[in-house]
Amino acid sequence: MILAVSRPDERKNIATLLHAYGGNTALQQCANLVLVAGNRDDILSSEKGPRTVLSDILMLIDRYDLYGCVAYPKHHQADEVPQLYRVAAKSGGVFVNPALTEPFGLTLIEAAASGLPVVATEDGGPRDILSHCKNGLLIDPLDAAAIGRALHEAINDRSRWRRWARNGIQGAHRHFSWPGHVETYMHKVDKLIHRSQRKRAAAPAKSKLPIAERLLVSDIDNTLIGDAEALRTLLARLSGVRERIGFGIATGRRMERALKVLKEWNVPRPDVLVTAVGTEIHYGRQLELDVGYQQHLDYRWQPQAVREVMAEFCGVRMQPASEQRRYKISYFIDPARAPGVRKISARLRQAGLHANVVFSHGVYLDLLPVRASKGSAIRYLADKWGIPIDSILAAGDSGNDEEMLSGNTLGVVVGNHSEELEPLRDRERIYFAKGNYAWGILEEIRHYDFLGDLQPAEAVSSEMA
Ligand code: GLC
Ligand code: MG
Repeated sequence: MILAVSRPDERKNIATLLHAYGGNTALQQCANLVLVAGNRDDILSSEKGPRTVLSDILMLIDRYDLYGCVAYPKHHQADEVPQLYRVAAKSGGVFVNPALTEPFGLTLIEAAASGLPVVATEDGGPRDILSHCKNGLLIDPLDAAAIGRALHEAINDRSRWRRWARNGIQGAHRHFSWPGHVETYMHKVDKLIHRSQRKRAAAPAKSKLPIAERLLVSDIDNTLIGDAEALRTLLARLSGVRERIGFGIATGRRMERALKVLKEWNVPRPDVLVTAVGTEIHYGRQLELDVGYQQHLDYRWQPQAVREVMAEFCGVRMQPASEQRRYKISYFIDPARAPGVRKISARLRQAGLHANVVFSHGVYLDLLPVRASKGSAIRYLADKWGIPIDSILAAGDSGNDEEMLSGNTLGVVVGNHSEELEPLRDRERIYFAKGNYAWGILEEIRHYDFLGDLQPAEAVSSEMA
């Protein structure tokens, strides 16, 4: 029994199946054809689609003179279908699905589960099902002669037929039953969980952050660097307590350019690098990117639309492509001609856009996602690594540092700061140093007694001894 079960729809390609069967007398001699093509009462009063399909079936049966070899029952009940598959399997037959396209093919899985080998269109669903179940042949639905040959072969090689029948039952159960599906799903989830656990466990080796009690985060340009002697003094001061204090930088530069300047100034590799104005966070030696933070920034970020609005303004010029990042759009501005930050923010809001507008050194303008800034990167770090925000010391000199200075961190504005930071004067926890560059940071460490009870590592070990 060659069984086909489908709706009487032209795309199911039943006519080609009749050409395949009708044109192959050897096939007719070894098997009958059973076409279960929906339920019908009267072909003449059916809708046009089914009417065409069903009348074609009748005419082709007539053309090839297939009376007695083809069954095309008028009615069947849904609960009879499983029995149809079983009867076909018992007869040593095959299931055929010659549809023009087949994205899934539920009937193929039903046939497989019933131990009935299949011949089906070489398309998405059948290809998947057969690659899992290995229970039949794929065919070109437009090649009637080849379909006829495939059906004949499938039925006549009996030992292969038995293997296919067995494979189908096992494969359907393993890959397409609920228990099989749940098992595959759990297996994949398990792998993911283990992978992320491995990652997390590896973090301490790469970064000191999980064990740091305090964190010093400094801007680079005009804060950490600028005065070589001040920098040397600061690094020496920190080197004794490096085990207990995390060291980070937060800069407008992108990572490569930050690393370059740190190297030029002989600054040891920080535990964390907040780069591109707080839009990227990298950790440790491997400079591993914090992907979670990036996802966090995606919120309401429409860079293309932001650029379009910015193009309306005078006195605003794009920085080179190398300064443009996924979450940072940067301009040079001519303060005499360009509108102020407020005006730009208002215009963006009016256009339904959300962005953080950051003005620095009187010439730079950065547009960032609303959730991005050096300050939000630091809050994110505090949260992620369990470092109390008031145990974080932040140092900066210009507009893009404002947010990290004015959170609840211990902030210092170095002596050589730019205009934009003046409004922070008299704010709590923001210390305006007299010293320039890293002298300002050293002054701040003293001011807040930041290294407090921490003693240099040697002192601790000799005490313990
Ligand atoms: C750095 C960046 C630049 C940015 C500026 C202010 O100079 O290279 O793109 O606009 O910082 O944040
Ligand atoms: Mg700076």
